[in-house]
Amino acid sequence: MTRPRIVVLISGSGSNLQAVLDACHSGATPADVVAVVSNRADAYGLERAEAAGVTTELVIKRDDEDRAVYDARLAVAVASFAPDWIVLAGWMRLLSMEFLSLFPDRVVNLHPALPGELAGTQAIERAWSESQTGTRTESGVMVHLVPDEGVDDGPVLGTTVVPIDASGTLETFATAIHDAEHALLVDVLTELCSPHLTPDQEGPPS
Ligand code: GAR
Repeated sequence: MTRPRIVVLISGSGSNLQAVLDACHSGATPADVVAVVSNRADAYGLERAEAAGVTTELVIKRDDEDRAVYDARLAVAVASFAPDWIVLAGWMRLLSMEFLSLFPDRVVNLHPALPGELAGTQAIERAWSESQTGTRTESGVMVHLVPDEGVDDGPVLGTTVVPIDASGTLETFATAIHDAEHALLVDVLTELCSPHLTPDQEGPPS
């Protein structure tokens, strides 16, 4: 059986990309990262991909380029790798339907907050600020499908709650969030990429 093909989109450090690369390499996730696409030339994740021997592609938005035109160009680049799954792992651009309509039920996003909370950028810092004013005691991470242009919103595939130790620091909280998202993203992709038996194949109940 051929292994599912994953294309990871990044904009920065790529620590979540690294978790996925490691899980695919070890066999924990039965899939292959076939390409890493970045919208930023200085994204450290590109170096991680190259170190893992994975093809990289830079698709940078030109200043005079419409969002729709850029997204259509991005879609062509991503489609050229024939992905089964497209994983947004620290991809910091909103994708329009010019991109999303080409990959229905195939785009997976990771966000460092729980469903319905703290959409957009700086979610970790905002959760921490709320803990310091006494309005928040926990946050978390989620992985969800991206059906449309909703921001960090869509059918939820997995969540992990992360308690906030208000006597800690933003750095310790951020580390806890990142640890949780590395584990959750790998767990969700492992589930998505694992062959599922149909009731016929499972045989009679024992
Ligand atoms: C991660 O915390 C991810 O959840 C977040 O960007 C970071 C990327 O880290 N994404 C969002 O905030 C999306 N709204 P990484 O580059 O080290 O994987």
